[in-house]
Amino acid sequence: MCGIVGYVGGQNAVPILMEGLFRLEYRGYDSAGIAVLSPKATQVHRRVGRVRDLEGALPRRLSGKVGIGHTRWATHGPVTQENAHPHASPDGRISVVHNGIIDNAMDLRESLIAGGDAFSSETDTEVVAHLIARSLAPDLEGAVLDALSRISGTYAFAVIDERHPDRIVVARNGSPLILGVGDREMFVASDLAALVRHTTSVVHLDDGELATVTAGGFRTFTRELQDTAKEPTSVDLDVADVELGGSAHFMRKEIFEQPRSVERMLRGRLDDRFGTARLDGLNLTPRELRGFRRVKVLGCGSAYYAGQLGAQLIEELARIPADAEAASEFRYRDPVIEPDALYVAVSQSGETADTAFAVREVRRKGGHVVGLVNVVGSTIARECDGGVYLHAGPEIAVASTKALTHMSIGFAMLALALGRVRDLSISDGERIIAGLRALPGQIAEILAAEPHIAEVAAGLAAAPSLFFIGRVRGFPVAREGAQKFKEVSYRHAEAYQASELKHGPLALIDKAMPTVAIVPRDELTDRNLAAVAQVAAREGEVLAITHAGVLDGSGVPRIVVPKNEPELDPILLTVPLQLLAYHAALALGLDVDKPRNLAKSVTVE
Ligand code: AGP
Repeated sequence: MCGIVGYVGGQNAVPILMEGLFRLEYRGYDSAGIAVLSPKATQVHRRVGRVRDLEGALPRRLSGKVGIGHTRWATHGPVTQENAHPHASPDGRISVVHNGIIDNAMDLRESLIAGGDAFSSETDTEVVAHLIARSLAPDLEGAVLDALSRISGTYAFAVIDERHPDRIVVARNGSPLILGVGDREMFVASDLAALVRHTTSVVHLDDGELATVTAGGFRTFTRELQDTAKEPTSVDLDVADVELGGSAHFMRKEIFEQPRSVERMLRGRLDDRFGTARLDGLNLTPRELRGFRRVKVLGCGSAYYAGQLGAQLIEELARIPADAEAASEFRYRDPVIEPDALYVAVSQSGETADTAFAVREVRRKGGHVVGLVNVVGSTIARECDGGVYLHAGPEIAVASTKALTHMSIGFAMLALALGRVRDLSISDGERIIAGLRALPGQIAEILAAEPHIAEVAAGLAAAPSLFFIGRVRGFPVAREGAQKFKEVSYRHAEAYQASELKHGPLALIDKAMPTVAIVPRDELTDRNLAAVAQVAAREGEVLAITHAGVLDGSGVPRIVVPKNEPELDPILLTVPLQLLAYHAALALGLDVDKPRNLAKSVTVE
């Protein structure tokens, strides 16, 4: 949601913090700020708007060797300069940046006000700065621990103190926090993107862990002050991965990365000899894989839709009952955890709070959960019993595209592995492997049709409201298509099962309400065409996402995608919908990479 960056070392912290904030801006972008310890006092600068607005407001000579920065996605209190981070203690000595939510902030605030404190913001974070300043502990670590003992909620904090100007103290509980190790300098960030230009040597903090960071190094410890002696690990990330590199937007860059990223993902994971997928990270023997009687997929938003597609793939290829549920609902309904079920958590960021809580719920009740996760070392990846990394590379645009494709392919490989230890024949296994290998080239073919898709998108963008329809394999495609469209174009886009249209929503169809229909060439083509006819009969415009041989010569506008195996077709049918949403947003002149009200990873409930 929000982004944290911190620096301590021999250089001027200001440009390093600003560069970090620019790279973190995709996490939250309603306001930003930095605090720098300068010889006289702490300099705090905050601005509503984008990081470039903050940059424009900084005094030219601002400098300091220690500092923290933050880019905000509002949760407590509206978007104002007062509510932007960093927040300070009443005397200005302590500065704090925070991701997450302090649940008991209201009570603490009232008791601090009763004790004479005045507040300058409406945020939960300011409470923490006040608590730290009130502590009688002689060191900053002790003061932070005193404050932590009074708060409940989720957090990643970075704290600086004029009395201890050589250090940043950080703490983590439920929100990601990473230390970057440099040469006589250290970095702090909520996301690798902010570190990548400076170091690839990192330390991931665990929940309940704190760290003291100085120019000379770091010390990690628990709330009981026990050292945790963490060793840095090296991350495989390049600056080019998090830069536009000539593309107009991250969303387009990421869409066009798919042929190569998918090829990379498949490399070494397809086993021709046995017609199966090799997913060693699952940590499951063939015998254990065979033992599962049910599969339950958990994810949020687009990841949930990919999970629906995944559950269908698992049922089709492995013939195990499988379904997907929004992790945000699952965690709150006291779910029955079945001992012979395989739970699969799916997440690009690996930090989505609702999905992480669902994982904990499964594990707490003794269930077995594996992850399909993109970000290596993320919370969900670390908390699962095993998993499959998606290897899509960093995804910066808020609207997820390539990670979604990788999720669906991850599910196809999981379904294949589950199927091959059951009744899926080797020839079917080989058929799916050949289909998977064809994907990169076929995705490239779809992307080559961008000019046609852009033209169609500009037409659709004019409609205030549209339907996306599909059935069975096509329904998760329709859901994802509608999700992408509404996220970046702000148009009302509603996904419906094509089969359900006639049971009510058909009443909405007229000339002004276009429908995007997913019509694969498979055993349900005729049924899908019946729904298209029902729409057309009410003068509704239809755009069909389809295969050659369907609606040929009908005059119905189409985007034709290459044919793969029926089970894998939904993966390809989703790709033109990414470009459709992208170009609709462009036609409307909207900020494609940073749509209003959204943030890249939702680390709060
Ligand atoms: C996708 O375009 C959305 N921004 C959103 O629905 C996202 O998929 C969801 O928040 C889950 O995120 P995750 O994959 O990082 O867990």
